Amino acid sequence: MTTEAVAILDFGSQYAQLIVRRVREARVYCELVPWDAPRERVERLNPRGFILSGGPASVYDEGAPTLPDYVLASGLPVLSICYGMQLLAHALGGRVAPAGEREYGPARLDVLRPTSPLFAGLPSSTKVWMSHGDRVEELPPRFTALASTANSPIAAMGDEACQLYGLQFHPEVVHTPHGEEIIRNFLYSICGLKGTWTPASFVEEAVARIREQVGQGQVICALSGGVDSSVTATLVGRAVDNRLTCVFVDHGLLRLGEVEHNLDRFRRLGLNVVFVDASERFLERLRGVIDPEEKRRIIGEEFVRVFEEEAAKLGHFDFLAQGTLYPDVIESASADTGTAHRIKTHHNVGGLPADMRFQLVEPLRYLFKDEVRRVGLELGLPEEAVYRQPFPGPALAIRIIGEVTEEKLEMLRAADAIVTGEIERAGLGREVWQYFAVLTPVQSVGVMGDGRTYETTIAVRAVTSQDGMTADWARLPHDLLARIGGRVVNEVAGINRVVYDITSKPPATIEWE
Ligand code: XMP
Repeated sequence: MTTEAVAILDFGSQYAQLIVRRVREARVYCELVPWDAPRERVERLNPRGFILSGGPASVYDEGAPTLPDYVLASGLPVLSICYGMQLLAHALGGRVAPAGEREYGPARLDVLRPTSPLFAGLPSSTKVWMSHGDRVEELPPRFTALASTANSPIAAMGDEACQLYGLQFHPEVVHTPHGEEIIRNFLYSICGLKGTWTPASFVEEAVARIREQVGQGQVICALSGGVDSSVTATLVGRAVDNRLTCVFVDHGLLRLGEVEHNLDRFRRLGLNVVFVDASERFLERLRGVIDPEEKRRIIGEEFVRVFEEEAAKLGHFDFLAQGTLYPDVIESASADTGTAHRIKTHHNVGGLPADMRFQLVEPLRYLFKDEVRRVGLELGLPEEAVYRQPFPGPALAIRIIGEVTEEKLEMLRAADAIVTGEIERAGLGREVWQYFAVLTPVQSVGVMGDGRTYETTIAVRAVTSQDGMTADWARLPHDLLARIGGRVVNEVAGINRVVYDITSKPPATIEWE
């Protein structure tokens, strides 16, 4: 790895991913590594510094996470946060004890040592965010207190000669307004990093790495038209040129005009794409199926089958390129992630089972979605492709409640085009996370002209969200909703009622199935 990097050891903090975000925003590459990961895992990164995250444990708890020996043995700068600070203090002969009371929330930090490089450029008194039970009561030898709060006389500590630092508060959260500066001071002034990790440098390195991995091998890639698979294919294509073959499977469940639109874009990106129209097969297998999980299972399974058959026809491939992202692979040390409940089975079309006979090429494995978007722009993908709203692999099948038929797909496509078109025309396409139509199984009475109708109901779903994990219904302007409602009933045959979904996630989910 040629990039300058930092290793973030995860002790189970709920904020661990935020530390990663802040460091990367400072244009320094970093990875989150569980505190008990093998040493080689960290060495591979060739870090120029360590950040120790917070965590829920107390250093005196039995079985509490410990500080791996290689951290101090490396002689590299260390920034330790909350539990990380207590661990560092404990390891170096300081004393940690329960604070009189748990401190949670905002506090005022007084900088005691303004000359410390960690606090360069900061005001002498600033707001910070605290969340801890224990605190450092006695400094380890050679350390000095760098800052204090009313409840924590040692709210920051440092052994400046050895470049070891501890913060009792959380610089990574937005409630610590100068937190970014503290992190940048650590990276730039203390670790001596330059902040050279940019989309352009990422592309350059990724291309080199793919070339090294693939050699003269042949690569196949499932393209869905989504940003992840498009960026993956473009990157791999840049690295191996005509030894990449992309397969675009039409499962018959895509939105209005999407197939043609995707094919056109792939061509303009110079990708070598094999188009497979498998819509009949999928619709056949979905016939009579109403259970949402069953739909998902069938689509996922059928997709793998189609893809394997195509791959076999196209010749021999050694590698499979996939658009796996960091949140899918991040191994957190936090205890509660292992027990996350399965709400829905997410079959990412393009996310194929690992038992396929290919080796995987996953150039986006360490990126977050917004980083992938920036890489996409760097690669010359059009904005419309890069900022496309998320679209589930099982596509319109999970937006038709009940059995999926050709007629219902046609109705939903027409209604969805109106919903999305109007929201985009109103300039809200970027603000609203996802916006679409759902075809409900509800028939209701209406009146059109002088006649009674008994037709289907369309639901409009539009949500705001940061990451899709939680969401709120979008407060769309009433006149926009009125336009959508009016157009859908007038223009789509078979629809006589439009309703707006006003539930947040939780308790609902974004998709209806
Ligand atoms: P839910 O409906 O669980 O969705 O609130 C959260 C986010 O995930 C998307 N989603 C999927 N994405 N394959 C995907 O690639 C799937 O099977 C799938 N199901 C839901 C959904 O659109 C939302 O962005």
